[in-house]
Amino acid sequence: MSHFPTGVTVVTSGSGERAEGMTANAVISVSLVPLLFLVSVHVDARLNARIREERSFAVNLLSDDQEGLSRLFSSPERSSGLSAVNSLGGGYGKVGAPLAGGAIAAIECEVREVYPAGDHTLFLGAVVEIQTGDTRKGPLVYHEGGYPTLKADGRPEATGAFMDSTRGFDVRTSRIRDRRR
Ligand SMILES: Cc1cc2nc3c(=O)[nH]c(=O)nc-3n(C[C@H](O)[C@H](O)[C@H](O)COP(=O)(O)O)c2cc1C
Repeated sequence: MSHFPTGVTVVTSGSGERAEGMTANAVISVSLVPLLFLVSVHVDARLNARIREERSFAVNLLSDDQEGLSRLFSSPERSSGLSAVNSLGGGYGKVGAPLAGGAIAAIECEVREVYPAGDHTLFLGAVVEIQTGDTRKGPLVYHEGGYPTLKADGRPEATGAFMDSTRGFDVRTSRIRDRRR
């Protein structure tokens, strides 16, 4: 999966001395109606026990100037509690979890289901609040163990397959939902 680029988040739970944060990219937008969001957290991560106790979490979508936060919150040596809250610098959200100041957005959830999944736990949350930050900033990207920057689209016009060879339409000019199935 290191060959698969993702965005980067810091998932948080708990307030004050009970605050925990952890860098995570195994996060999924699961459903729009109702709004459901899922995070996958290692069973031994401090955040795992905290989400189980708090029954809530916040997912902070990091921007391209927050590589430091990603590195800090993926370090086993990092502090929990108020020190973590201060490092994140965004105060607290609606569910009481710390937010990352300067992030692109924060998605706050209350836990609906907890699924054991090997050495990870899947926490499925109902989204109760979404806060957007500076959405003009680019996202932090993780790929092959590093943080590459996204370049402006300088690709040639026709890269990859745009034609459906059976039905003969070009996805660049045709809207698939207007076509007969
Ligand atoms: C970019 C990135 C994404 C990560 N995604 C996850 C993830 O989705 N789930 C997870 O459990 N650990 C993930 N990790 C690893 C944890 O952040 C790291 O192991 C952390 O130290 C675990 O918390 P702990 O120190 O309390 O055990 C990720 C690390 C990085 C650098």
